[in-house]
Amino acid sequence: NKTGVIFDLDGVIVDTAKYHFLAWKNLADSLGFEFTEAHNELLKGVSRVRSLEILLDIGDATVSEEKKQEFLISKNEEYLKYITKMGADEILSGASELLDALDDLGIQYVLGSASKNAPLILKQVGLYNRFLGIVDGNSVNQAKPDPEVFLIGAKKLNLKPENCIVFEDAIAGVEAANRANMTSIGIGDKKTLSEADYNFNNLTEISADFIKDLIEKLEN
Ligand code: G6P
Ligand code: MG
Repeated sequence: NKTGVIFDLDGVIVDTAKYHFLAWKNLADSLGFEFTEAHNELLKGVSRVRSLEILLDIGDATVSEEKKQEFLISKNEEYLKYITKMGADEILSGASELLDALDDLGIQYVLGSASKNAPLILKQVGLYNRFLGIVDGNSVNQAKPDPEVFLIGAKKLNLKPENCIVFEDAIAGVEAANRANMTSIGIGDKKTLSEADYNFNNLTEISADFIKDLIEKLEN
């Protein structure tokens, strides 16, 4: 097949944003400032290091490089407490069905996530072996909105970027897909993800017919 798919993980396949929120909030609490769900939106799709910088900005906190390293480790330890309890029941609605539909159509797919915990999360929910390849926060130098993560994904699929379809829930991710010259599908609020080529509220809205038509369009 000439077309392939790249999936973001957090917010598309699983809802880990709530766990990131709890772990970041824990850090903000310990530093004595408020961190809200609205603040958490700013961290979606953004790397761990960048997330910490944004959080410290929100709290107007200046800390040493050494402290930052400490915070990155403690935040991830806190996050792992939640992640290691995850199971298949936390796969977002429509995700398994969409993977099944792609399998039926013979369309290959890889993961393109900013998370260094992506392999662990996929194993926890039992989806690890379904992906042809995994590109995660450990394999990239440049975080989204840089297109690097998706361009490596295209290489794993052995396809040209213009023949790749990306599912994303974050503004930074949609921008990365667009900059990679791929077809971007925004999952979530249409207004927030207005830069996407197509928009859906969640994966249950994606039919096999939509995928078939899109592939036909891309291949002709
Ligand atoms: C995803 C999430 C971000 C998170 C990033 C890094 O892109 O949407 O909120 O900061 O991954 O995750 P990690 O698991 O490496 O801390
Ligand atoms: Mg995401």
